[in-house]
Amino acid sequence: MTTLTRRTLLQRTAASAGALIVPSFTTAADGQTIQHMTIKPATQVLFEDAASPLWTYEGRTPGPVVRATKGERVRVRFTNHLDEPTSVHWHGIRIENRMDGVSGLTQDPIQPGESFTYDFLAPDAGTYWYHAHNRSWNQVARGLYGPLIIDEPDLPFPKDRDITLILDDWRLNHEGVLDEESIGSLHDWSHAGRLGNWLTVNGESLPTHTLQQGKPHRLRLINASNARTLQIDPTLFKAKVLAYDGQALPEPSAVPGSPLLIAPAQRVDLLVVPQEGFSVEEVSGDEGFAFLRFDLQGDTGDPVPVPAISQNSILEPDLENATLHSLAMEGGAMGGRVAIRHKGQILEREEIMATGQFWVMNGDAGLTDTPFFRAKRGETVILEVINSTAFDHAMHTHGHHFRILAPNGASIDETEIWRDTFLIGPRQTIRIAFVATNPGKWLFHCHMLEHAAAGMNTWFEVIG
Ligand code: C2O
Ligand code: CU
Repeated sequence: MTTLTRRTLLQRTAASAGALIVPSFTTAADGQTIQHMTIKPATQVLFEDAASPLWTYEGRTPGPVVRATKGERVRVRFTNHLDEPTSVHWHGIRIENRMDGVSGLTQDPIQPGESFTYDFLAPDAGTYWYHAHNRSWNQVARGLYGPLIIDEPDLPFPKDRDITLILDDWRLNHEGVLDEESIGSLHDWSHAGRLGNWLTVNGESLPTHTLQQGKPHRLRLINASNARTLQIDPTLFKAKVLAYDGQALPEPSAVPGSPLLIAPAQRVDLLVVPQEGFSVEEVSGDEGFAFLRFDLQGDTGDPVPVPAISQNSILEPDLENATLHSLAMEGGAMGGRVAIRHKGQILEREEIMATGQFWVMNGDAGLTDTPFFRAKRGETVILEVINSTAFDHAMHTHGHHFRILAPNGASIDETEIWRDTFLIGPRQTIRIAFVATNPGKWLFHCHMLEHAAAGMNTWFEVIG
């Protein structure tokens, strides 16, 4: 493993800030716009002047912003110039099932040389992202992700005060280059996943962004890390929370605790009204890592009111008439002995190592032929997740946002948060509730991508 530390890297790196790359469009016969993306290898500097071999959308990571207004249609045509099949998942947005981008469940993967057009209506405004969903532990680790931003029709924040910051935790080798050798390490698969040693913001090291003094800004943070739960303390720059996982709160609210945990795949939109420049530190490692800096321009003129963000309408769960499904999560390192059933067979020790299946959900590692549960459209589902492992997990429901219930399951958490990914700690039990509104086959998996690859992956079906 690398001996590179964040601090030694830090001292040698210069700051710069560039924009996300410019999307390319064509117009279809029906007058609709299609965005085009080529999926291809490219080199990119993540650290100092060391070029890393990455996999990209359009030659750079993160890929171009996909942006539309709520209610509009999004069309993106991807052409795969990799040597392996891929597919693209639109994380957190409630779109129709056949556009969900899950290889092997909702579509056949896009083979090398082939193209596929994703075409969906954006039902909700908010901060989402897209990423590869075939061998994600490999493809996302190499850079295959980008932001998906759906604007509220009334555009609460002007574009120059609405800033997308997609964060990634890279594992670099001692030369400061993406450590490719350790991608797929079974140690990572059976422990905490692929943790890195270098953070980038929009693919850049230690960028400086410029904000306008005294004006309200929306900072959209997206955690694209394979496995690291990012920890930052927004109270240090007097930020409030505008939205979690794309869903706006009724009004800006206090940061629930410090540090704020942003699990893999989670998003948080922050409200910042800066009076002075500041940097943002990530504190999950041995030492704090200041990875992002804000300078100010202009001077505080008349105060600008904080815009209100309109909420999406999501059906409230009907807890009185809900169906409960329990999911026991077991296995992994330090998890004790558990039987691991994979594709219907209990694995022997050598088979566990050969398949890399270390984790089970209700006894099964990986997708089974029949779903974990079926729900009728309109039915409220309570999912009880029991984490008997020694690790944290970041559990993600495809196609649905949910409420996290209070521990006794009796009432909805008054924080009024909708999420699509929740963090669960070792030996913790959490219940979530949602109305099964979206017909089709949906994954429920750990978004620590090594855990998903190593068994923490199941699915449910909404019928009707
Ligand atoms: Cu970000 Cu299965 O997804
Ligand atoms: Cu996990």
